[in-house]
Amino acid sequence: MGATITGIGSYLPEKVLTNADLEKMVDTSDEWIVTRTGIKERRICPEDQASSDLGAEAARRAIVDAGIDQSDIDMIVCATITADMIFPSTACIIQHKLGLDNIACFDISAACSGFIYGLEIARNFIDTGRYKRILVVAAECMSRVTDYTDRTTCVLLGDGAVATIVSKTDKNSGILDTYLGASGKYGNLLYVPAGGSRMPASFETVEKRLHYMKMEGSSLFRIAVTAMSESVKKILERNQVSSEQIKLIIPHQANIRIIQSVAKLTDFPMEKVFVNIEKYGNMSAASVGVALDEAVKSERIHNGDLICMVSFGAGLTWAANLIRWDKNG
Ligand code: UT7
Repeated sequence: MGATITGIGSYLPEKVLTNADLEKMVDTSDEWIVTRTGIKERRICPEDQASSDLGAEAARRAIVDAGIDQSDIDMIVCATITADMIFPSTACIIQHKLGLDNIACFDISAACSGFIYGLEIARNFIDTGRYKRILVVAAECMSRVTDYTDRTTCVLLGDGAVATIVSKTDKNSGILDTYLGASGKYGNLLYVPAGGSRMPASFETVEKRLHYMKMEGSSLFRIAVTAMSESVKKILERNQVSSEQIKLIIPHQANIRIIQSVAKLTDFPMEKVFVNIEKYGNMSAASVGVALDEAVKSERIHNGDLICMVSFGAGLTWAANLIRWDKNG
């Protein structure tokens, strides 16, 4: 028994924040942002919406894509670090928005690696034999934890969501293997200090802008390159797959220079690497899934192709998987 993605959909809010817009907000330039990150624009969630709204819309699209009745879904897993609120879970809110009831729902917090973690969680639940169709959503409103007075982070982030229907398959296809890793000792390189049980909201936390993401960019850059390339090597090696056999590698979209370094260290020519960072920036958990959706819709992936997804994020966490693409299940 195995699990495969039988439907995928994504949703990007319409509002675009360009580098020219950011030039008016902080001391930066289009030239710096493009050469140092590869990003040209990102999407921003409207004020009256939150991660669950983006996630629910992506889910509706994935359900249509899978051609299933939504009542066939027996679990919802949502990867997010920008949950609508501390509780209830965004997965429960999405369940209600879809008009579903009485199925298991929970969130996972693995930051940018959350989508790959989520797919692996779904695969393992399906392996138990008790679940047949799991909705895995990655939904992020990174703009809500972004300090638009901090030029070192605000140029990087954007909002978006992706959803997949992960279904049971009897074939030797779909999600073949996943490698998951984490290192909590690096937690202080990327975090939001306040708003949790350690530092609840107060006038002081608001005044000191402690509800926004703090990041040590250059340390993260180095660790990201190592963790992502090691993850790719590990998943290929233990499945005895060479980089030539991989049709497309889909990396987390945090920085074009990270992507290029990982491609070089793992022997992938850039033609085999999916990149859409210029349009959306870093959407945390949603990035790698939106990239997968665009790769499928633009026909860079067909049934039978071997693909590799790889990601890296706060925690720190990292993850890579190997998928024999098979939407028919
Ligand atoms: O999802 C995973 C989490 N995030 C990441 O993986 C991010 C990883 N890190 C990065 O992508 C890069 O480190 C950044 C894009 C964040 C920064 O690029 P960098 O090449 O590492 O630049 P830097 O931090 O070494 O800064 C170089 C200079 C500094 O000026 P000085 O000190 O040399 O005068 C910065 O103040 O660039 C300056 N700088 C900017 N200048 C214009 C930093 N941000 C900006 C900006 N516009 N937005």
